[in-house]
Amino acid sequence: MNTQQQNYELLISQVTALTQGESDMIANMANISAVVFNGLADINWAGFYIYKQSQLVLGPFQGSPACIRIPMGRGVCGSAAETQEIQVVNNVHDFAGHIACDAASNSEIVIPIVKNGQTVGVFDLDSPSFSRFDGCDAEYLSKIVDILANTILADSQSTETPLVLDNISLETTV
Ligand code: SME
Repeated sequence: MNTQQQNYELLISQVTALTQGESDMIANMANISAVVFNGLADINWAGFYIYKQSQLVLGPFQGSPACIRIPMGRGVCGSAAETQEIQVVNNVHDFAGHIACDAASNSEIVIPIVKNGQTVGVFDLDSPSFSRFDGCDAEYLSKIVDILANTILADSQSTETPLVLDNISLETTV
């Protein structure tokens, strides 16, 4: 295991501990963005967009203020949300439709959050370096998004207010 993998294993254990037993999606997104932003080198933005009312809306993040609403299919985030496929962009200036929230960003990775086949949102990371993200980042950030997605499942079994997005409704079972 190389140092990049070892660092990610540490982040995974932190994310697991912080989200354990917690079903509030916003709280979990907030802590995950903080763990990842503080735990990875050469990152200038890490955060979430949440799918609601047929578009992506800014969620918890770390970094500079960002654009609030992104239409499905637009930019790197909208592409990931629409295709449900990870987007790794080595040079954002070459990506047709890229939405520049922070002029310092030169490369980007976006992981879709998919629950029961439905897009719940995306996890977006930006870097001031070109080609910052590789297959290892995609693999481990997907694991982190899977941990988050599993906490959303836990919500359906809790007695708390059900999470209701416009394409996914998780009813309480009690
Ligand atoms: N660059 C993204 C927009 C979000 S910011 O990077 C925070 C995009 O093209 O979708």
